[in-house]
Amino acid sequence: MNRPLVIGNWKMNLDFVEAVHLCQQITVLLKNQPAPHVDVVVAPPFVDLRSVASVLEAERAGIALGAQHVNVHEAGAHTGEVSLGMLARLGVSWVLVGHSERRAHYAMSEELVGATLRSVTRGSLNAVLCVGEDEAVRDAGEHLDYVRAQLRSALSGLEAPARERVCVAYEPIWAIGTGRSASASQVAEMMGAIRDELAERGLGGARVLYGGSATADNAASLVLEGSADGFLVGGASLKADSFVAIVRTCDDCYAVSANRR
Ligand code: 13P
Repeated sequence: MNRPLVIGNWKMNLDFVEAVHLCQQITVLLKNQPAPHVDVVVAPPFVDLRSVASVLEAERAGIALGAQHVNVHEAGAHTGEVSLGMLARLGVSWVLVGHSERRAHYAMSEELVGATLRSVTRGSLNAVLCVGEDEAVRDAGEHLDYVRAQLRSALSGLEAPARERVCVAYEPIWAIGTGRSASASQVAEMMGAIRDELAERGLGGARVLYGGSATADNAASLVLEGSADGFLVGGASLKADSFVAIVRTCDDCYAVSANRR
């Protein structure tokens, strides 16, 4: 098992006061009972980044800062958008690329996902490439081919040093925000296909996370049986207790898998 990574994607929730509060609660919980084997990232809305960065810096809790999206251009006439340079200056070290909500509702094409991935990793930030099928694709039994095609498209043209800064999040669209997580066996099957595809493209060691109604209750089986390297968490990341419980579960799972080795 790779070192686990747990990312809280706060989506379009929490104003900066609420974000600071949640961040403080998470740091207190993790300081009282650390999870030394897990990398933890929080990805607040853009307007909260500066405030959350101050808390993380002051608390020194070892939590990294992530952004939910970035524009592919360096600067210029892109009203309402945010650049990589702006994010880096705020201390952001992780960027989600191609979340299904961006693809579905904000016209993010496969081509743009790939270009954004190249620009994030060229800029020395870590990227979380999000992939996953909708229910119709799964019902048709085409989910493995669909996700492999998403990976091929996004990863083409990625240079060797940049590959080290990519991790993948498998987020089946039908499981996002529905309370209906994929089962451990569904995740295990997909993880196998994703890792095969990654190995063929020189990203054999990349971490592969799961996202979609992940909770502390299903986390252990999704890691130990599903072979996820961690989670991209939406709803359960909006409460400190439920987020930290997932982090702790990953910490325990890592210890279990280390003992098995
Ligand atoms: P939920 O955990 O709310 O299902 O969201 C998953 C997600 O989209 C994280 O990026």
